[in-house]
Amino acid sequence: MQCFMKWLTVAVAIIFRMAEVRCIDIFHEWIVTSENTVVHPASNIQPVIKINGMFPGPLINSTTNDVIHVNVFNNLDEPLLFTWNGIQQRLNSWQDGVSGTNCPIEPGKNWTYAFQTKDQIGTYSYFPSINFQKAAGGFGPIRVNNRNVILVPFPKPEAEFDLLIGDWMDNSFKDVRTMLQDELSHDVYPKVFLMNGKAPYGSPDSTSYESFTVSKGKTYRLRISNVGTLFSFNFRIQKHQMVLVETEGSYTNQITLDSLDVHVGQSYSVLVTANQDESDYYMVATPKLFNTTDSQSNGSSLVGKGILHYENSMSMANGPIPEGPDPFDIDFSIDQARSIRWNMTAGAARPNPQGTFNVTNITLTQTFVLHGSKAIINGVPVYTVNNVSYLTPTTPLKLADQFTNGSGVYQLDVFPVRSVKDGAAYGVFVVTGVHKGWIEIVFKNDLDDMDSWHLDGFGFYVVGFGEGEWTPASRSTYNLHDPVVRSTVQVYPGRWTAVYAFLDNPGMWNLRSQNLFHWYMGQELYIRVHDADPNPAKERPPPENVLLCGIFDEAIAPVASALAPEPGW
Ligand SMILES: *[C@@H]1O[C@H](CO)[C@@H](O)[C@H](O)[C@H]1NC(C)=O
Ligand SMILES: *[C@@H]1O[C@H](CO)[C@@H](O)[C@H](O)[C@H]1NC(C)=O
Ligand SMILES: *[C@@H]1O[C@H](CO)[C@@H](O)[C@H](O)[C@H]1NC(C)=O
Ligand SMILES: *[C@@H]1O[C@H](CO)[C@@H](O)[C@H](O)[C@H]1NC(C)=O
Ligand SMILES: *[C@@H]1O[C@H](CO)[C@@H](O)[C@H](O)[C@H]1NC(C)=O
Ligand SMILES: *[C@@H]1O[C@H](CO)[C@@H](O)[C@H](O)[C@H]1NC(C)=O
Ligand SMILES: *[C@@H]1O[C@H](CO)[C@@H](O)[C@H](O)[C@H]1NC(C)=O
Ligand SMILES: *[C@@H]1O[C@H](CO)[C@@H](O)[C@H](O)[C@H]1NC(C)=O
Ligand SMILES: *[C@@H]1O[C@H](CO)[C@@H](O)[C@H](O)[C@H]1NC(C)=O
Repeated sequence: MQCFMKWLTVAVAIIFRMAEVRCIDIFHEWIVTSENTVVHPASNIQPVIKINGMFPGPLINSTTNDVIHVNVFNNLDEPLLFTWNGIQQRLNSWQDGVSGTNCPIEPGKNWTYAFQTKDQIGTYSYFPSINFQKAAGGFGPIRVNNRNVILVPFPKPEAEFDLLIGDWMDNSFKDVRTMLQDELSHDVYPKVFLMNGKAPYGSPDSTSYESFTVSKGKTYRLRISNVGTLFSFNFRIQKHQMVLVETEGSYTNQITLDSLDVHVGQSYSVLVTANQDESDYYMVATPKLFNTTDSQSNGSSLVGKGILHYENSMSMANGPIPEGPDPFDIDFSIDQARSIRWNMTAGAARPNPQGTFNVTNITLTQTFVLHGSKAIINGVPVYTVNNVSYLTPTTPLKLADQFTNGSGVYQLDVFPVRSVKDGAAYGVFVVTGVHKGWIEIVFKNDLDDMDSWHLDGFGFYVVGFGEGEWTPASRSTYNLHDPVVRSTVQVYPGRWTAVYAFLDNPGMWNLRSQNLFHWYMGQELYIRVHDADPNPAKERPPPENVLLCGIFDEAIAPVASALAPEPGW
């Protein structure tokens, strides 16, 4: 996939005097290594996944419709895949980088992703998608900037800062994987919150912490992502308010906040104006549903702390850290979530307003009701969706789809999408999503911890949050006027969250819990959106460099090479 084809489009654009058509190829070469090191303030030596020596990895700075090429050299001692969380891979699930779409990149090998930020803008992150590796790092920021011709609905900020915040364990991710086979309970609990990989300000065994330098009177855009494993957090800046402007690709109605809840896998942009005395101020992230001041929980290090530093500041940050909402106050969090609305009149990837997609009067084609829970199967504790725990096959579903219509690898439409299976079981389940239909997905969290869910390939219209069991009558509580569209949505313990998605993107799409423990131990499934038309304008053929594995491993299955895919573009 290259911009080459796009130049034809440019020619057409010139003829028809259309607006600027921009397409730029961006090239990255990533050497991925695992270094045994101490991540302060944790004290254990543990493997940390770095990209070109960096933790977090480098920024992917792109603009709408750019084509991003990432040549990944896997120097780990195990297979690796990256996924681009929130990049929709239009017509091209071949680049999605999850176990159901791609063979892993084997150790010592390299493989080049090529994907387009087609019709998208916004703030996202990338991370390793298999084998619990995200707990060891390998994550980084993605920006998709507006094309020049499209106005951003706020004045250009003085500068932008990427701020990746996440909980961090001081165990080796390999040990945690092993432990999870026996016990889901978090004996292996995160020990600290890191900001851009850095220890909290003031922690005794660390000299490095995150700090952003600002000039008095200027306004800055912070792009905040939760790259952690399981904790949602509340983010706030001492003596400063934030104006929320964007979430995972949608410009929001601008609201002024003292603090912002960010759940695992989510991203936000906020504007911060340096309007206080020239000094240093704390930026903090504290976990939700967790008491950091309770001595029994040893949680005081679970406070991420960085510094907002004014250029001419002569004084260090002082005073107590800014107080946030009660971490157990779910209503605070839900009220805030409900107040985050789409700005229907702002343009985004295209000049037309975001309100072009108005869901007040759409006809639903499908409804899934998915209960997230846990169970024990053959003595192994697992997380489940409707009492089914996903068992990752060695053959990517997408390859099976291409070569054998899935047979021998997955079962289509056996998964119970609206009921809980009687008797917990493993399965490799794929469900049909009706092409160009509207799907309603209700996520019900039957557990005590926070969850968040993500669908590759699409945005979620976040229409409702509710308590107790969801029934069709619950639809009367939905916000169908201006629901925000985003890629990851939180689901509170004991409660439900309802979303819509418009399935206009054929492919094999991963639907997963972003809570890494839940995901790794079975909370995922795939939605297959199929269009029988082989026209590449509908869905891309496999890329030229497609990897084969599992039952299509060339060594054992000549069928695969016999059916060699058409070259991609
Ligand atoms: C990102 O790309 C935009 C558009 O090309 C450019 O203006 C900006 O300076 C870049 N930012 C960084 C940090 O590279
Ligand atoms: C591996 O890297 C080499 C050197 O950059 C490149 O030519 C080749 O295309 C890459 N292989 C794959 C499968 O992407
Ligand atoms: C929505 O976007 C428009 C167009 O950019 C802007 O003028 C307006 O202030 C925004 N509204 C809110 C509530 O943020
Ligand atoms: C946290 O624990 C401390 C000590 O047990 C207690 O005083 C405090 O009220 C608790 N805070 C919350 C928010 O539950
Ligand atoms: C807290 O720390 C103490 C002493 O290090 C330890 O005995 C206890 O198990 C820890 N509690 C938790 C919940 O980790
Ligand atoms: C969406 O469409 C409905 C009619 O179906 C209309 O009443 C409503 O005003 C529209 N909303 C927006 C924000 O345009
Ligand atoms: C809503 O949709 C129905 C059926 O699709 C249609 O008959 C009706 O006119 C629509 N209403 C509005 C306000 O657009
Ligand atoms: C897959 O299904 C299509 C449509 O039903 C059929 O034309 C094709 O032959 C099947 N391919 C294989 C390998 O079974
Ligand atoms: C899942 O199946 C088990 C039996 O294996 C049953 O005890 C349990 O109630 C089921 N879970 C749910 C949420 O229905």
